[in-house]
Amino acid sequence: MSTPSTALSRGRESNVMPGERVIWDSMGSELHGVDLTAPFSDSQFNEIRRIFCKRHLLVIPGQQIDADQLEAFAMRFGQPDPVVKTEANDGSFRKAVHSVSNLNAQGVPTISPVINANYFWHSDRAYRPKGSICTMLHGIEIPPSGGDTLFANLILAYKALPEVTKKRIDQLKVIHSYEFMRETIMKLPLTEEERKKQQPSEHSLVPIHPETGEKILFIGMYASEIVGMPLKEGRALLTELQEFATQPQFIFAHQWRAGDVVVWDNRCLVHKATDDYQMDKYRRVMRRVVVQGTAEF
Ligand SMILES: [Fe+2]
Repeated sequence: MSTPSTALSRGRESNVMPGERVIWDSMGSELHGVDLTAPFSDSQFNEIRRIFCKRHLLVIPGQQIDADQLEAFAMRFGQPDPVVKTEANDGSFRKAVHSVSNLNAQGVPTISPVINANYFWHSDRAYRPKGSICTMLHGIEIPPSGGDTLFANLILAYKALPEVTKKRIDQLKVIHSYEFMRETIMKLPLTEEERKKQQPSEHSLVPIHPETGEKILFIGMYASEIVGMPLKEGRALLTELQEFATQPQFIFAHQWRAGDVVVWDNRCLVHKATDDYQMDKYRRVMRRVVVQGTAEF
């Protein structure tokens, strides 16, 4: 693998690296001249990691890689996370690197996949004590249009809050619960076995990004209650904050091309897929891996 080396275009920032194209002012860089099939040095990876920490979203186009190569790249960022549900929509076994798709158990495109939670704003593994550093998706089969992944920048959202709201929420703690999501979104209560494995976690509502020092408005579909606040009042506040944080000015839509590897920072972005294409006609197949977080927040 090589680091970005071919300057295709210059972004608006003065310190954009050769081969890096700023895809949206507020987050995201596309890296050209990167080949994930080839070995790369620590210093080469450190440059990619530096851009990731600064821009929070990387798009690396044109990658012809298999699951092992995607996992090897993920392992440069940290430890790949085991999956929660071991069966995918299409019946295949889900490992750390697994497929996500709109296919049913017969491998046919469907408008009602079993796992529908990816159409709601979330940070992957937010219900774990350490959350996750990043998720990687590799686009394998892409519909002719639509099926974008949307990203909302929670650092920008926090900065834009009224000062009075910042003061009100800065010290609050929030519970993130996988069980809450399963009941409210998937309408699929946990089994006893799953409940034992997926305990809720308490996070700061406004954690500090461990690498940039910026404040984050950490919301999403796993956020179930505010610690010390009546349930109804806490959920109303979380809904209000999520609606604020997912306004268009904080959102970037990634339009997929086959071969794209997209890496995003789960510590400060929430994301969701869109179902605006003919889901029962076109196949949307991705390979995915989530990298574990390293510190509680
Ligand atoms: Fe996700």
